[in-house]
Parts: sequence; C-alpha cells; structure tokens
Amino acid sequence: MHHRAMSRTKSVVISLSAMSLLAFGWAHAATPTSKLTVDTTKSGAVIDRNIFGQFAEHLGTGIYGGIWVGTDSKIPNTNGIRNDVVTALKAIKVPNVRWPGGCFADEYHWEKGIGKGKRPVTLNSNWGGVIEPNTFGTDEFMEFTRQVGTEAYVSANVGSSTPQETAEWLEYMTSEKETSLAMARRENGHPAPYSVAFLGIGNESWGCGGNMTPEHYTDEYRQFSTYAKNYNPAQTGDKRMKKVASGANVDDYNWTEVFMKNKSGDVDALSLHYYSGFEAWPPYQPASGFDETEYAKVIKTALRMEDLVSKHSAIMDKYDPQKKIALAVDEWGAWYKGEPGTNPGFLYQQNSQRDAILAAVSINIFTRHADRVRMANIAQMINVLQAMILTDGDKMILTPTYHVFKLYVPFQDATVIPVTYEAGTYTRGGITLPRADIIAARGKDGKVYLSITNIDPTQPLEIDASVLGLKAKSATGETLTAPKIDSINTFDNPNVVTTKAFSATARNGSLILKVAPESVTVVSLD
Ligand code: AHR
Repeated sequence: MHHRAMSRTKSVVISLSAMSLLAFGWAHAATPTSKLTVDTTKSGAVIDRNIFGQFAEHLGTGIYGGIWVGTDSKIPNTNGIRNDVVTALKAIKVPNVRWPGGCFADEYHWEKGIGKGKRPVTLNSNWGGVIEPNTFGTDEFMEFTRQVGTEAYVSANVGSSTPQETAEWLEYMTSEKETSLAMARRENGHPAPYSVAFLGIGNESWGCGGNMTPEHYTDEYRQFSTYAKNYNPAQTGDKRMKKVASGANVDDYNWTEVFMKNKSGDVDALSLHYYSGFEAWPPYQPASGFDETEYAKVIKTALRMEDLVSKHSAIMDKYDPQKKIALAVDEWGAWYKGEPGTNPGFLYQQNSQRDAILAAVSINIFTRHADRVRMANIAQMINVLQAMILTDGDKMILTPTYHVFKLYVPFQDATVIPVTYEAGTYTRGGITLPRADIIAARGKDGKVYLSITNIDPTQPLEIDASVLGLKAKSATGETLTAPKIDSINTFDNPNVVTTKAFSATARNGSLILKVAPESVTVVSLD
C-alpha cells in the first residue's frame, strides 16, 4: 500500500517539477530553485475552517490536567478550566472540538458526568484502566467551548448505548422547553440551550466502537440518527446540527462503499481515520531523537493521506456527485512510541519540527480536496499524540504543531487559488519525497496568502513566484524554522522551535522567497 501511495504522489508532484529535476544535479552546489505560478484570476473551493478542528478525549492528561484543573486549583483557572490553555487556543481560532472520544466515547454515559453533587466514578478501560472521576462532563465541556469561542462536536455512544440515551443527551443539551432533562440543565447552571454544531454517531464502529460490519453500522446509523434531534430553536438553517457518520479505518474502501450505498436519513459527513508515523503496530518511532531517514519515513506516511482522501472521495462521488456529504478526517496526526517513563496508555509524546512539517503537508492535502474534505480533527489537542499544547503542572508549552495551526489561521474559510510549481525531490535512505509543498488562497480579508513548506532538511529553497492578476511587490509573514529536524520545545527551553518574521521582495516581476530547510512559511502578498 505504501508503495502504491508513493508512486502516485511522485507522479503528481514530479510532473510539476521538470525544471527542478534538471536542477537536481547541482542541488548540492547551489540553493535549489523552484518556479511557482499563483493564478489569482482563478479560484477553487472554500477551505472550511473546520479542517482546523481539534480533538479532546478523556485519555491520559488530555482533559484532566490539560484542560480541567478544578476550581480549587492553584493553577489560574476560570470555572475550573486553565486560563493559559484557553488563551493559547483562542489565538489559533479553534473552529470545533471533538469530545469526549475516540474510543472513550463508546463507553461514555453522559448522565454520570452531570450534576452538582458527587458524580459516579467509573473506569477508563481503553486508556490505562485509570479512574474516570466524571468531574469534567457535558456542562464543563460546554463551558470550555464558550471560553475558547469554539463549536462543540459531541460524539455519541453507539457501541454500548441506545438511541434513547443519545436522544436524552440531546434533549438535556438543546431543549428550551421545561422537560425534566432541560430543567436539570438549568439547575446545573445553564438556563439557555447549548449549541451542538456537530454530532458524531459512533466512533471507529469497525473497532473499539463495537466491532461492527459496515452493513450493521449503516443500520445502526439510520436508527440512532432518527432519534438524534436537536431542539435548540437557534439551530436551524445553516446553523443546523450536522451529523457525522463513523467512517473507514485508513484504506477500508469497502466501509465507505457500503455506507454510501445504503445510507438513509440525514448524513452531513462521513469520517476517515488515519494516523501517520508508523508502519507497524505498535508504533515504535520515537517522537524525538530520530535521524533523517526516520524523518523521511514518517513524512512519507503522512503523504499517504493524499491517496486515501482521493480514493475515499472517488467512492463518495459515485453516490453523492454533488458533494453534499463531507469527508471528515476527524482523527489524523502522528502516533509515535510514548515518552519513556510515561504510562503507555496515556499516548503522551513530544512534538518536533518533523511534526510541524507533517501538519503542514497534511493540511495542504485537505485544502487540495476542500470541495469534499470540510472537516478534520487533529489527534489530539493537549498532552496526547500530536498535541498543540503540552502541560506539566502549572507549566505549559506550545508545540511546533501549534505554531503551524497559528500560521494557517488566514486559511480558515479562505478560497483556494490554483498554483503550479516545480516540487523538486528530496531523497534520504532510499525514500524520495517532494521537496516543496505549496498552497495559496484568498483570505476572508481579501489578501492572497501563500504557504510554502520546504520538506528538505538539508537545503534552503528559493521560490521564484509569478503572480498572475496581482502586481505583488512584496510578501510578508512568518516562518517556522528549527535548528534540527528533531528539535523540540521543552519546559526548560520552550522556544527552540518558534516562528519569526519573514519577508521577500519582487525582482524583475517575480517574487523571490528564500525559505530555510525543514521550514513552514506563510506570507501575504502586497
Ligand atoms: O486518538 C486515540 C484513539 O485513536 C482514539 O480513541 C480512537 O478513535 C483511535 O483509534
């Protein structure tokens, strides 16, 4: 599968790159140059801001410690939620947060997580077998979304629950009438109905979510969806709650085929889960302290997303040519071996410049499929897998991946502008990758934005950009660079990988942008 995916990626990229291939012979003698054409007279699909979604599961310290510290904590908090984390998340304009799982969602019973009294204590059987105190439940999650200014993507339990339990959860969250459940919400401090922007119906129903066949899941979806009603009077029209069906694992195209063929009722999105970073289970790659060959291997796994999204989309096209149903890549990111000394069930891993490159190339793939991929959720937001934020007690650091999400804020709801470019190639340890990965879009502010990723950690890259339809004199923005490809931010050294100002000017009508090795650069054109 890897070989097939790789040859496809190469054929797409290398066809754009004849000149760079010619230049490859002198690549070591001079900075490689890549010609880029940005055609601002044309436009593509809108990049749905929801592709920058996050995922927060009851797993390790993703919720407890990472978000929730409780009102009695010495860590500065508002209603029990860490202030530092909220401030950092606001800066990346998180569009939605998927909660409470993951695998956890299909064992979660929402009524245990509400109320002012002592809540039942349960087991988190999926993730380390630890105690789940249920102190962070629906009302705390909604308070968190309020503080961050993001939308709620709630995952309903299909695997070990009933349509009635989901229906009652929605009634608790969204009804304005004086039903007992809505009154309970009022007593718990929230008189107004909550907004539930997205409802996931099951998670990985082929695995931890019930080990179902696609045929069985499709029937379950129909049944759960029938009773999954949102009563919030404000959620009509465009604001209607969108339903996300549990989709395929990686390249299980049969799952997509069966669901799309047999679905009925309202389906707004079908999910896809794909993690990069490992070729065999369990993940063995360390998150830091790796060499360049390991870097190339991991980025190759990330680029496989192109093949997966293309093939799942092609199946969806057969049954939904108007692309009404989105492909929601609602779990993606790098999954490495847990940090030494941590609970393996907590999936706690460091985050390096490699992850920044991985995030950028993955987001770029989503934008190239913006007509179908209208939601994606990186796994996971805090302290778990490819996190934005790591915390340790009262300390917090921002990861290289966080900085990529910050750089990409102008791409939220921007309109794709077509680009053609010579990607060139970078080869290490027998693995060949494209050197450059570039996208462009017109932001909501009307400006033209470019994102340039130099995958090559050995050489800078000079982009010679012709901008059609715009007399661009300069480009200004920020670049994310690092001393080494495995550089990380730590609690002692939190700013090893961080952004700095970047600018470029025009020469003979072209913009010349020289970017550093292993870097991600976002600029606006003036
Ligand atoms: O993100 C960690 C886990 O990966 C999720 O709980 C599950 O859905 C997936 O297998």
